Amino acid sequence: MSEDLFAKLNTVLGEINSAQPTDTAELEQFRIKYLGSKNTLKPLFGEIKNVAPERKGEFGKVLNSLKQAAEAKFAELSTALSIKSDAAETSGLDLTAPGLPRKLGARHPISATQDKIISIFGRMGFAVAEDREIEDDWHNFTAMNTPEDHPARDMQDTFYLRDNPNNLLRTHTSSVQARTMTATKPPIRIIAPGRVYRNETISARAHCQFHQVEGLYIDKNVSFADMKQTLLFFAKEMYGPDSKIRLRPSYFPFTEPSAEMDVSCFICDAKGCSVCKHTGWVEILGCGMVDPEVLKNCDIDPEVYTGFAFGMGIERQAMMRYKINDIRLLFENDVRFLQQFQSVH
Ligand code: PHE
Repeated sequence: MSEDLFAKLNTVLGEINSAQPTDTAELEQFRIKYLGSKNTLKPLFGEIKNVAPERKGEFGKVLNSLKQAAEAKFAELSTALSIKSDAAETSGLDLTAPGLPRKLGARHPISATQDKIISIFGRMGFAVAEDREIEDDWHNFTAMNTPEDHPARDMQDTFYLRDNPNNLLRTHTSSVQARTMTATKPPIRIIAPGRVYRNETISARAHCQFHQVEGLYIDKNVSFADMKQTLLFFAKEMYGPDSKIRLRPSYFPFTEPSAEMDVSCFICDAKGCSVCKHTGWVEILGCGMVDPEVLKNCDIDPEVYTGFAFGMGIERQAMMRYKINDIRLLFENDVRFLQQFQSVH
């Protein structure tokens, strides 16, 4: 009889030792079974009366050791399971691994080129003037001596707004010249950077949107020589101290006389290459003395004041600087293209 009871204790001990709860719910079952208020050990304590008197002491000891074994096992399993659940939460995370590097942004080649131009003229005292991209006809054309029936309007194919054909997407930032001249009195020394639009067929060399920097200087006694010197300084700062410029006669409705300015080719040192089409010269900008009609249109007395103006596209200069062969790349914002300019400042 006693033997049976001892065997029962052994079985329970075996059960306790081999218990393998895999989650906290199973662990709780274990606790209830062996340590709860109605645990399976309790009835065994009641069996003491059935044990032979000389073995009662021994039975009591084994029974107590069963209880201790259950407590020890519970403590051990609790620790193991909490470590396991911590591990599950952070699984796949190596907390000692170095952090991911943040991707550096890149300056867009247009912004970089535009900022360089602005800073060169800034050092000569030209202040940046900005204005709207949707302009009215007067500021874009009429004030700039290009009235409605003027054939020079054909030089700039224009996007007119459908709901108000008097409004258009500015075709040049000369509109900012008109706005500045009507709003402030000379001396005026500004550059107007910004986006402009023309109804051109999009190709590798032309786009319907591009950027310009235009300049305007109006004061008493401003001469063509002042313009030439200003533009020569610009060319040397932008394209290297050995750069030369040449002015070719040209036509713009808002300047008289007008010129196109070429810079000696900085790619081949004027020896001749595909960029300068083997001429040694690259066309950079249009310029001229502000036509007296433009001054009059803007309420500036042409008998007192004279001035010069110039305008250049940014895209072509950016393309030459960074050897980009398709203007469309500048507007697609493809990250694979843009991230190549991370070192550009
Ligand atoms: N506005 C002219 C253009 O867009 C450029 C220019 C500006 C020419 C000022 C002369 C003087 O083509």
